[in-house]
Amino acid sequence: MNKFTPTKPAGARNVDEITGSRRLRRMRKADWSRRLVQENRLTVDDLIWPIFLTGGTNVREPIDAMPDVFRLSVDQAVREAERAAKLGIPAIATFPNIEAGRKDEAGSHILDPDNLINAATRAIKAAVPHIGIITDVALDPFTSHGHDGILRDGIIVNDETVEQVAAAAVLQAAAGADIIAPSDMMDGRIGAIRDALDANGFQDVAIMSYATKFASAFYGPYREAIGTQGLLKGDKKTYYIDHANSDEAVREAEQDLAEGADMLMVKPGLPYLDIIRRLKDEFAMPTFAYQVSGEYSMIKAAAANGWIDGEKVMLESLLAFKRAGCDGILTYFAPRVAEILKG
Ligand code: PBG
Repeated sequence: MNKFTPTKPAGARNVDEITGSRRLRRMRKADWSRRLVQENRLTVDDLIWPIFLTGGTNVREPIDAMPDVFRLSVDQAVREAERAAKLGIPAIATFPNIEAGRKDEAGSHILDPDNLINAATRAIKAAVPHIGIITDVALDPFTSHGHDGILRDGIIVNDETVEQVAAAAVLQAAAGADIIAPSDMMDGRIGAIRDALDANGFQDVAIMSYATKFASAFYGPYREAIGTQGLLKGDKKTYYIDHANSDEAVREAEQDLAEGADMLMVKPGLPYLDIIRRLKDEFAMPTFAYQVSGEYSMIKAAAANGWIDGEKVMLESLLAFKRAGCDGILTYFAPRVAEILKG
């Protein structure tokens, strides 16, 4: 006998003896059976499309660090909202690139009823009334230092920031926003926003809390997109969650729900699937993930280099959110995914 011929050890069991006749590959044998037993599915109804706004008209400015993503003037944003609605995307989320001259220490331009976010909301609502509009309410696009709060003596001042954010939320609701999404992680912001909305007749405007927003390096390309790159002094660790923590994320979500949040969001997405699953299991609330700029750009960059199949990785990453328990995903891939899903 050739000594390199593998031999079964004496007394070794055959596969049926090991598996007890349970063969998990049976249901994988054909496309039809794989489809039949598929547990999770990505549909266009799962998508929220974040778009970037800028001033002027007829502007579509490319963003270096985010291939195929543009800063859009309001008229272009309206066109894209129309396209999104035609594709069946339920909602868009808007993020403004505010011109430097309008930024100040307190981010006071957020309180201008005619600022870029509010102007875009009005224009989109008028032209595409049936698409949901989610507005991010945070000071960072408006502050000269790029922080999400009012900065005084090197400290982000919580309660004054909350007052300003709540007032801004009312203006966003008045412009027509359907969902207010506070992304600043100040303590007490959800309750303050809920009170302010209710006191101004906006009981039906929902709050999607960026309940668990982690201090993350994955936001890099976004900061180029909204023009806060280079402005930010220090980091956001005194208000975003330490990315080492999971129990703290549960406490944040619990607090936001107690204050009146209608939906929870986890951000970034893919590196935090464990948090998504924990929150969904714990609270059984509508739960969303934000596949952030860095996640998007990593896929685009690897695909551009020919290292991965970009569209397959895109779809696989989005399905991972569904598997983890998400009801939906904010993703820059939304229109491309919707096109693919439409076939
Ligand atoms: C801040 C905000 C951030 C993002 C959206 N709003 C993070 C930050 O700049 O610190 C990130 C979105 C992305 O990376 O796609 N309010």
